Amino acid sequence: MNKIFIVIILIITLFTFETISQSTSSEVEECPESPYYDNPPVDPENAYNGIIYANDLSSIEKQFHEKYMRIALDKAIEHNSKFGAAIVHKNGTLMCTAANTGEGSRILHGEIRAILNCTQLYQQETWEDYYMYTTGEPCPMCSAALLWTKFEKVIFGSFISNMYCERCFTQLPMDADRIFRLGYGINHNAVLIGGVLESQTDLLIPSVCGTGSVFSTTPFCQAGWTRDCPVNGIFSDSSDF
Ligand SMILES: *[C@@H]1O[C@H](CO)[C@@H](O)[C@H](O)[C@H]1NC(C)=O
Ligand SMILES: *[C@@H]1O[C@H](CO)[C@@H](O)[C@H](O)[C@H]1NC(C)=O
Repeated sequence: MNKIFIVIILIITLFTFETISQSTSSEVEECPESPYYDNPPVDPENAYNGIIYANDLSSIEKQFHEKYMRIALDKAIEHNSKFGAAIVHKNGTLMCTAANTGEGSRILHGEIRAILNCTQLYQQETWEDYYMYTTGEPCPMCSAALLWTKFEKVIFGSFISNMYCERCFTQLPMDADRIFRLGYGINHNAVLIGGVLESQTDLLIPSVCGTGSVFSTTPFCQAGWTRDCPVNGIFSDSSDF
């Protein structure tokens, strides 16, 4: 009688153990790789629709942006710099400018300098109705800064992919689009426009391949990459100008 009792207890114990370990392993299997979405759920009221290319803009919007990109470009040229920036109210008022002069600190990129300049001039912390013009695609640091400071639009000339893959110019190899699509996490999506006056902003960054310059690197780029390949395969309409 006692032996039978012990066997029953043993069977029950084994069965319970099996059930627990099964449920634990199935929970592990259900865990997502990351707590975050790669592509956020779309909120039609407040969506980021991917980068817009200058060539896809209406001619009136393109002209508007070219006018202010020219100011950012001139600022870079004036300072013998590779990168210039300008902050403009959407009503067309130029607020401030800046160039990456390479002085002071390595984090003072053109966009950061412009934000600091405008903040000092106008004592304003966020820029909801303003556009940032920058001759080069914002790096991950600047892209994040532009989202935190809530710019409505960010317009750039030269692409990181071209500076890095084609001309060996040191860059963190990540498209601004990758950061801009995360804006949902801080309740702010900015419009990102690339390639405005690109043929002219590109002249600021000639190839440094094999020059041994501190800005030169040997790029790791995908086989078959060419300038004509879409940046993220995402295209969008420029509907709300
Ligand atoms: C445009 O916006 C700027 C900055 O807020 C303001 O100072 C200026 O008066 C505005 N101009 C017009 C015509 O609304
Ligand atoms: C800040 O912006 C003003 C207005 O555009 C400009 O005159 C000035 O040169 C800028 N400051 C720097 C450090 O670029």
